[in-house]
Amino acid sequence: QADRSDTNQRLYLAQQMAAEHFAENLRRSPEAIDYLKNRGLTGNIARDYQLGFALDRFDDLMPALLRQFSEKELLTAGLLTRKDGGKPYDRFRGRIMFPIRDTRGRVVGFGGRVLAQQEPKYLNTAETPIFHKGRQLYGLYEARKASPRLESLLVVEGYMDVIALAQYGIKNAVATLGTATTHEHVERLLRVVPKIVFCFDGDRAGKEAAWRALEQALPSIRDGVELRFLLLPEGEDPDTLVRQLGTEAFVQQVQAATPLSDMLIQGLGERFDQSSREGRAALGLEAVRLLRLMPEGLLRSQIISDIAPLAGVSSAELNERLGKAESRPA
Ligand code: GTP
Ligand code: MN
Ligand code: MN
Ligand code: MN
Ligand code: MN
Repeated sequence: QADRSDTNQRLYLAQQMAAEHFAENLRRSPEAIDYLKNRGLTGNIARDYQLGFALDRFDDLMPALLRQFSEKELLTAGLLTRKDGGKPYDRFRGRIMFPIRDTRGRVVGFGGRVLAQQEPKYLNTAETPIFHKGRQLYGLYEARKASPRLESLLVVEGYMDVIALAQYGIKNAVATLGTATTHEHVERLLRVVPKIVFCFDGDRAGKEAAWRALEQALPSIRDGVELRFLLLPEGEDPDTLVRQLGTEAFVQQVQAATPLSDMLIQGLGERFDQSSREGRAALGLEAVRLLRLMPEGLLRSQIISDIAPLAGVSSAELNERLGKAESRPA
């Protein structure tokens, strides 16, 4: 309902016009085109995702959009910003612009990447009435458009990962906008496909992200749902890896990705020191916490049998702990 309000319509229109403005800038900016070329992107893929460029100026987008929108509207849209009530100026400057679309294909916000090494590397649109960072999945609209009958989705970390994979014909990748995967993300994806493969960077942050995603995915385990994890080699991300391996080998790795249950057991094994009773008990305690998030069933029973020895107890004991934990009032 709020979606239909006139204000929101104005915000969608402003985002769309900004996307067109940025795309036009890109066509005329050799340094931005060179940057994308150096990263191996083709003009076609840049067009498919309507990539753009925000000039390195405080007043490029602003005068262009002020013909149709008020300063207040553009501030609300997150396209302009200001310091302490001072004069508004362009929020995105000197950045490659990635339009973020909702499931209906409307531009709701942007991610912007600096050309040179500079902080922050990526800048997203701040929260607005039509843009909620924690809910959006970059590339989902494009993935559904490319294949009306998607069977699985690949969750990757970055904008560039989504685009590089698409360029290599792997058109089912989506990215969270630099935020951790939430239970809500998982459920949104499972409304589209029964199978999700989480494919995070092979660095420390990527491993942490995978473990957090696993926890968020546990409540969604059910018949017909398939959840897997692909951990990339140290220092690689899907963008660099697909360029290195090529499509076929990358797809093979995705197909051979680790099932969630294996990931859970491996992860517990790696996180705790099993050489001491104290370590094994701590492992057991964490296992109980995680297993509580997962629906009861045969899969859970099997996981319990496999974890019990790591925790140094019998399956019956682990099961009993689980029962107690579950019956504890919240
Ligand atoms: P490239 O260096 O362009 O290949 O980006 P990347 O996607 O590989 O970057 P990285 O693996 O460091 O980060 C993954 C994702 O996290 C990015 O695509 C962004 O969405 C987000 N991210 C990374 N750095 C920042 C940052 O400085 N600020 C914000 N808000 N998000 C970031
Ligand atoms: Mn990373
Ligand atoms: Mn739920
Ligand atoms: Mn990258
Ligand atoms: Mn990365």
